[in-house]
Amino acid sequence: MAGRIPQEFLDQLLSRVDLVEIVNARVPLRRAGREFMACCPFHAEKTPSFSVSPSKQFYHCFGCGAHGNAIGFLMAYERLEFLDAVEDLARLTGLELPQLRGGESGSPSRPLLEWLAQADRFFRQQLREHPLRQRAVDYLRQRGLTGQIAGTFGIGYAPPGWENLGKALREAGAEVDDLVTAGLASRDEQGRLRDRFRDRIIFPIRDRRGRVIAFGGRALDGDNTPKYLNSPETPLFHKGSELYGLYEAKAHNRQLQRLLVVEGYMDVVALAQYDIPYAVATLGTATTAEHVERLFRVVNDLAFCFDGDRAGRAAAWRALAVTLPFLRDGRQVSFLFLPEGEDPDTLVRREGQAAFERRLGQAMPLADYLFAELRAQVDPNTLAGRARLAGLARPLLEKLPDGHFRDLMEERLRQEAQVVSTRLRPPATTPISPADRNLRLTRTPLRKAIALLLYRPELALQVTDGDLALRDDDEPGLKLLANILAVLRANPQLTTAALLERYRDTREGAILERLATWEPGVPEHDYRFDQEFGDILASLRRRDDPRERLPEMLLRRGTPRALSTEEREFLRNLGKSQKI
Ligand code: UTP
Ligand code: MN
Repeated sequence: MAGRIPQEFLDQLLSRVDLVEIVNARVPLRRAGREFMACCPFHAEKTPSFSVSPSKQFYHCFGCGAHGNAIGFLMAYERLEFLDAVEDLARLTGLELPQLRGGESGSPSRPLLEWLAQADRFFRQQLREHPLRQRAVDYLRQRGLTGQIAGTFGIGYAPPGWENLGKALREAGAEVDDLVTAGLASRDEQGRLRDRFRDRIIFPIRDRRGRVIAFGGRALDGDNTPKYLNSPETPLFHKGSELYGLYEAKAHNRQLQRLLVVEGYMDVVALAQYDIPYAVATLGTATTAEHVERLFRVVNDLAFCFDGDRAGRAAAWRALAVTLPFLRDGRQVSFLFLPEGEDPDTLVRREGQAAFERRLGQAMPLADYLFAELRAQVDPNTLAGRARLAGLARPLLEKLPDGHFRDLMEERLRQEAQVVSTRLRPPATTPISPADRNLRLTRTPLRKAIALLLYRPELALQVTDGDLALRDDDEPGLKLLANILAVLRANPQLTTAALLERYRDTREGAILERLATWEPGVPEHDYRFDQEFGDILASLRRRDDPRERLPEMLLRRGTPRALSTEEREFLRNLGKSQKI
């Protein structure tokens, strides 16, 4: 939509408005030299760092970096969408907004809105006055709706019959084409006008400024299908971008913090009735990027609510995928799964507000949901499963915009892969005994390899395949080495300290702590480490039957060779420090 406003109009608009006036009406400004200052409305502060320049017609906060022109200020402060901010400013300056809506047919959209407004009045009036109104009132009562909540949402009634609304609006001067374009009626084969909504409870669907742009109609009984009938797509109504209840939620609370996305009209209304007036519903479609974009303009915290059944889970997963590109820092999304057979309407009526909000408080954060779903898709007991988890997560994480949240998710992925990998090769978990505290470790090549690894964890990357294919009767030291290699290869960023942390309070941990104190005796980045480590692994492989013992372990530089003088020296030093 934004693209459709001509640049010249925006230029004209911005040259007419005075940003100082607009800001000052909302945030009292104090003159400071050539500028005006205030405490920034976009972050918490005690000394003013928010400045407005009358000459530049631009605001800037030195504290949080917020900045922009009058349109940007209104969007940020009033949480308006671009077009709404422009409309507000246009009204302020008396400029006529260029025709934006309903442009395709060439017919101006103003009449359409008027006919929709009249239709809305008509439906509400029928609920109060039609001879068959009791049918509708009974239905609403039986669904537990109060008159008050029906009033808040403007619920109405379309009586039975083919030409109630059409007739009324034609008498008021509507053209047949207007009614068809507005989605209120259609022409049958004989060219007669037929009402779209008949014998249905009517939910008016409002745009973000509160104007009725479409309707949803619910059948009063099960025989009338479909259960819900919505307006068709019209120049004013695009299902994929509208959300039922968004206007009402915003009107109820201008400082909304969170929105709850549910599936149905009745859910929105019931939640509002139970003092949860911040639910919105998609209109019989899956969640779209446009929905998410629109919602994030209003709040930074979204919760999606779905049935706990398979269809609900599938819908939740689609919503997750759609949401990822919008997860800038500071925004959050969670998922609430309801017990099978319940929807928000039935649940809030049964449990009440507090219990429902308690559920909401425990909704699953997007990160948890994402990894839980992926874990369920792989076999965590295999190396291939771990790789698959990473493979499945990768394209999803790629959708995230850069930022801390993405970094955290990447870190989480590394952890998740590691959790799986330690399951793959059970980590050292032998409980520690008092004797372990005074371990005496004699020098073996195996222990030396571990000591080197603790000193330079990145050596693990030298091993080109970490799958050691251990046997049941392998010695514990070899299992420990294999375990450390797997952990390090899954988490190459781990420091020695972080690695040791994973073995805290285990016998293996006590061994590792002791080995970590072995001084290598050569400079930290000396190439000999690589060599030494490779040599030991190669010799371990050769020790008994190499193909049996370490068949998969291929070393990049594993050729055995004689020890150099320095290495002999190193070994001697290690030998000394080993007796404690
Ligand atoms: P549900 O079938 O889950 O019904 O439809 P509900 O919201 O619980 O409705 P009640 O409680 O039986 O009255 C969820 C939403 O899907 C759309 C509507 O937007 C509805 O609110 N829908 C459903 C349709 O568009 N057409 C249908 O025939 C059914
Ligand atoms: Mn329902």
